[in-house]
Amino acid sequence: MTAATVETILQVLEVSKSFGGLLAINRANLTVKKGELRALIGPNGAGKTTMLNLITGIYPVSKGQIRFKNQDVTRLSPDKISHRGLARTMQITSLFAGLTVYENIWAAVQSRKKFLNPFIKASRWQDVREKTEALLELTGLQDKADWICSSLSYGEQRILEMGIALGTEPDLLLLDEPTAGLSTQESMALVMKMRTMLTGQTIILVEHDMGVVMQLADYISVLHYGEILVEGTPETIKENEEVKKVYLGQ
Ligand SMILES: Nc1ncnc2c1ncn2[C@@H]1O[C@H](COP(=O)(O)OP(=O)(O)OP(=O)(O)O)[C@@H](O)[C@H]1O
Ligand SMILES: [Mg+2]
Repeated sequence: MTAATVETILQVLEVSKSFGGLLAINRANLTVKKGELRALIGPNGAGKTTMLNLITGIYPVSKGQIRFKNQDVTRLSPDKISHRGLARTMQITSLFAGLTVYENIWAAVQSRKKFLNPFIKASRWQDVREKTEALLELTGLQDKADWICSSLSYGEQRILEMGIALGTEPDLLLLDEPTAGLSTQESMALVMKMRTMLTGQTIILVEHDMGVVMQLADYISVLHYGEILVEGTPETIKENEEVKKVYLGQ
């Protein structure tokens, strides 16, 4: 077991997850430090999305423990875990396609303001508006605030999703394949944008595109058949023979 330090934000300790007879995650250990961008890579079906679903509490773990900010969150509901400072984006887009950019951000912001005192309505709406505008600026989509979401490019939609997730000021942000469905050129544009938007943010990034991973990650964990096969810096992972065999098909 890895010892937690003040710097540690997330610990996945000997976690397993089975779906019936299938062992999707097998005694996995993962320790993520505050401020790092950790990439989680591996072939299709390796268990990457499952790992995110375990961390966010969407699936109950079969065995093991998950600690977030030094507290056991293994049995907490997704709602409770999210309120402790965890946000995520999905592998499939989760925007309201028929609403505008502004409305999408506004809807997300106001849904998170439900704990404010309902008697101070005017300041509440002022607050929601200001937060919405701040997020518009962060995403760089101000000029498209009135656009219907489905008319944005796919890359812009992913940026918008990230902006919305960041709106909760999460301590840890989980991104599931932000470049899925993008061309290489669009992916690189998204990466540049992510670099400016996400500076200093602690992130677990699930990503297939090795080019994107090498550009962004501080540290990489490779999943293979539900097991953490190897971990290391982008440079060491790129040269690792096992990784080349199982993941890069070389
Ligand atoms: N809800 C579920 N019920 C049953 N099996 C599941 C469920 N979710 C995932 N699995 C199985 O668990 C394994 C890991 O799936 P997972 O979606 O985590 O892989 P992944 O690494 O995210 O793959 P991809 O790169 O294709 O997104 C797969 O064999 C998958 O079929
Ligand atoms: Mg997946």
